[in-house]
Amino acid sequence: MVRTKTSYGDAGFSDFIQRAFNRHLGYGNEESSKPVIGICNTFSEVNRCHAHVQPLVEAIKRGVIMAGGVPLEFPTISVGEMFTSPTTMLYRNLVAMDTEEMISAQPVDGVVLIGGCDKMAPAQLMGAASANKPAILFTGGPMNNGIYKGKTLGACSDCRYFWQEYKAGTLEEEELDVINEKLAPTPGHCMVMGSASTIAACTEALGMMLPGGSATPATENYRVHLAQETGKQIVQLVESDIRPVNIMTRNAFENAIRTLMAIGGSTNTVIHLIAIAGRLGIKLHLDDFDKLSSSTPFIANMRPAGNYQMQDLYHAGGIPAVLKELSPLLHVGELTVTGQTLAENLEQVEIHQEAREVIHPISAPLHEDGGINVLKGNLAPDGAIIKPKAASSSLLKHRGQAVVFTSLEDLEERINDPQLQVTPDSVLVLQNAGPVGAPGMPEAGMIPIPDKLLKRGVRDMVRLSDCRMSGTAFGTVILHVAPEAAVGGPIGLIRDGDMIELDVENRKLELLVSDEELENRKVDWKEPEFTNYQRGYPLMYRNHVLQADQGCDFDFLLPVKKEEALASQV
Ligand code: FES
Repeated sequence: MVRTKTSYGDAGFSDFIQRAFNRHLGYGNEESSKPVIGICNTFSEVNRCHAHVQPLVEAIKRGVIMAGGVPLEFPTISVGEMFTSPTTMLYRNLVAMDTEEMISAQPVDGVVLIGGCDKMAPAQLMGAASANKPAILFTGGPMNNGIYKGKTLGACSDCRYFWQEYKAGTLEEEELDVINEKLAPTPGHCMVMGSASTIAACTEALGMMLPGGSATPATENYRVHLAQETGKQIVQLVESDIRPVNIMTRNAFENAIRTLMAIGGSTNTVIHLIAIAGRLGIKLHLDDFDKLSSSTPFIANMRPAGNYQMQDLYHAGGIPAVLKELSPLLHVGELTVTGQTLAENLEQVEIHQEAREVIHPISAPLHEDGGINVLKGNLAPDGAIIKPKAASSSLLKHRGQAVVFTSLEDLEERINDPQLQVTPDSVLVLQNAGPVGAPGMPEAGMIPIPDKLLKRGVRDMVRLSDCRMSGTAFGTVILHVAPEAAVGGPIGLIRDGDMIELDVENRKLELLVSDEELENRKVDWKEPEFTNYQRGYPLMYRNHVLQADQGCDFDFLLPVKKEEALASQV
């Protein structure tokens, strides 16, 4: 049953030795014609968001067997957001490489990928796109809502909110600790519309996950049923020879981008979608995101940009209901892993009146346009990102003097220095925290408000960096500035006291310093001396990672030529 291309220069011997090792696996010759389904299991006790997946893997296997396939589970790298240093983003491409190579090298006809925590699903989709064997993504699902004194708590928007209040002196340590206990109350990934929930939602929109797969909580019995159905469906995909390249088309990516905008999802997803599409030779530009954002109403009232969490979205009909509402704007003829088009998947979906507080009609959206905007200007020639719906509207048009931190270490050391020259109107700037500079572009973009300002009641300021922020974070935060400081981008030329202008409506981000002065600073600019990560994978990362506007994939992982790359795999 298990077939490999391993050759010893003797086809007869290859067959003989494979039969011996099929028997070693416990299989006989009667299974030889059945599809072999790999289950790419990312169970890990360290990656807490995946620690509950074993029963789901069993349900997937059951589904595979019910449909006439042979399931074979195998491990790949698992990285969890909270316990991976310096940042999971450094390892997203490593997971993608592991996933691609294991799908390609092993004798499986199709795969189910178990995702969940932030960087896992994007990495798995990148790997699956390059391997291009039939694939379905399945996640462990989001946590249930936390509850404190009758108020809903969400990981990790409330981790940030309550920590800020504690630092401002409005919350005692004892109460903070009680809240801490309730922030991540059940198995599953973070349950606000952070990076994990957003990429899962976008995977449904892309067509790479069964309908309902993203919002169904980790604790619901229905998730076990979905796992079983995923197992059945991957066998059908193999029999129909439907591959990622048939599903993840440019139109499908446009559907995913519109979904991202309609749910006010995580800014990280911009980077991930560019990277996944790039594996298929599809070029997504930041301008595509801004254009689609401008013509997509914001309809899902989800934290941190709105009021509800994934459990509420599930009860409101989940992402199928969002897609149904958005369908006049979507390419509904696209094929999905159900073997049917998006339109066919949505035929039976109804949105109940009671769900309208969570999923607004496109005729009466929360906002007329989508959740993410792209900024350009002399400060970010290749673009920067802002999530205006999670920002302070009063700061979306702002001029302020820069307070510059040259590294994460510098930020940590000086942000709460009582002598720091900073006012509520200042623009906090963090340099050298990008893909190359950090390395790995950590989620430090929500630069902490200095304690002395917090205590005066300041809760938001304009902040600017070449790094990312968590999808659960909020504030007037400009991210992903490209090119980054460490490769000579203009963000590295900002000095204390420079005037910076932000104008979100006109998509402008400008450093109000003369061209002549900037040219002089450029001459003086020196590449930072990297004292950390001098060897191994991080060194390779630093040498090959692309900038944020290009998806932060490795240059050598892009298809050599689109047609060639796809033709060789189909
Ligand atoms: Fe895994 Fe938040 S820690 S999704």
